[in-house]
Amino acid sequence: MQFFRVKGGKALSGEVKVSGSKNAALPIICASVLTKEKCVIKNIPDIQDVHTLLHILKFLGSEYTFENNVLTIQTKEVKTKTIPHDLVKCLRASILLLSPILIRNNKVKLSYPGGCVLGKRPIDSHLYGYMRLGAKVTETNDYIQIKSPKGLAGADITMPEISVTGTENIIVAACASKGKTIIRLAASEPHVQDLCHMLNEMGAKIRGIGTHTLHIEGVSVFKGVKSHSVTPDYLEAGTLAISAAITRGNVKIKNMHPHDLEVLWQKFEEVGIPFEVGKNWVHIKPTHKRYKPVHKLQTLIFPGFPTDLQAPFAVLLTQAHGVSRIFETLFEGRLGYLFELEKMGAKTEILNPNQALIIGPTKLQGVPIASCDLRAGAAMVIAALVAKGETIISNINYIDRGYENFEQKLRSLGADIERFDS
Ligand code: EPU
Repeated sequence: MQFFRVKGGKALSGEVKVSGSKNAALPIICASVLTKEKCVIKNIPDIQDVHTLLHILKFLGSEYTFENNVLTIQTKEVKTKTIPHDLVKCLRASILLLSPILIRNNKVKLSYPGGCVLGKRPIDSHLYGYMRLGAKVTETNDYIQIKSPKGLAGADITMPEISVTGTENIIVAACASKGKTIIRLAASEPHVQDLCHMLNEMGAKIRGIGTHTLHIEGVSVFKGVKSHSVTPDYLEAGTLAISAAITRGNVKIKNMHPHDLEVLWQKFEEVGIPFEVGKNWVHIKPTHKRYKPVHKLQTLIFPGFPTDLQAPFAVLLTQAHGVSRIFETLFEGRLGYLFELEKMGAKTEILNPNQALIIGPTKLQGVPIASCDLRAGAAMVIAALVAKGETIISNINYIDRGYENFEQKLRSLGADIERFDS
């Protein structure tokens, strides 16, 4: 078991580069399975979730090399083997294998990736999409089976829920369906857009990228890709920006698309954090002025405030003078980290599974705390950066799943953070 030891109180300063997006890399790697040809994908973050996915793909017959963030992958044949449940459950995103395996083999059987600490993670909208494309879907308590012996047929689909991985699965399936498909209420997060660009590079015909209505013309053959570069991780960029702001630091965050985080910058203005935005960077600047609370931090689908930045931003609000309201609309299990934050001295009030108040300002105190999930883990590190004394953070395997070189990046900005084994 590994831990972080953080000694708080240092203002971050310097420049840092954002890595490739986890949530784009995972569906893009899965999409590479659509073709027998070689795909070269750059800017893949070297994180645990990517290694777990590659392990599953090796089991299914893919051959690859992964060095210096470049993945070269080729799947000449997809073996019709049942992926062991232990592997599937390690990675929620293994659900993204449904479409590529279905398209290559006309059938797929996968055990449920399971729920997780965020609360229930239903997949009904994925399955609805497959049925609308003409597939036969069978569900048991243990697995999902999808068959399309005669291939899939395009349809006009209104997604029952705006789901990121649901949209990604149905986009991939629609690309290989005969005729035209319209996907309404499609998710449009930067990672969904990046998957669409990769698919178009493979020969797909997707229009409306970045909107909630996608028009897709099916194709029968997908080709390899000479060089696709994964979009920068806007969630990592946001996490670093919040880390800089909470320490009243002076940090330039590079290699990013600031436009993906418009709503975060609005909230920075509301709080009173000075910053400057460039074409592919943002500069967070120090101030001695008091931070103000936010009237309502409501998570929404893109381009709304990302649920994945809710916990990090809530930690920042513990330093604002007044009461801020959090409204988590996507997941009912995403406020649990507030109990850890209270151990550090934060004053919070959980009103119901989706709403909480943060009453600031509070001087956070270093104590032993745990990461509840990937983003809550990052939030605990952010809290530790301003806490008095030493914070020991456990369950950091969650953080390793999705942030590349997290502690190295923070250390390069002057944070006192180290990893140790129990
Ligand atoms: N939903 C349904 N039915 C479905 C699918 C989703 O009701 O069939 C509901 C969910 O219960 C939730 C909402 O729709 O209330 C959104 O869930 P979504 O399906 O969009 O989540 P996901 O695709 O499982 C992805 C990211 C998550 C991120 C969410 C929301 C990946 C691999 N995961 O999950 O990322 O929080 O979208 O943006 O892209 C993370 O990176 O830490 C992470 C958890």
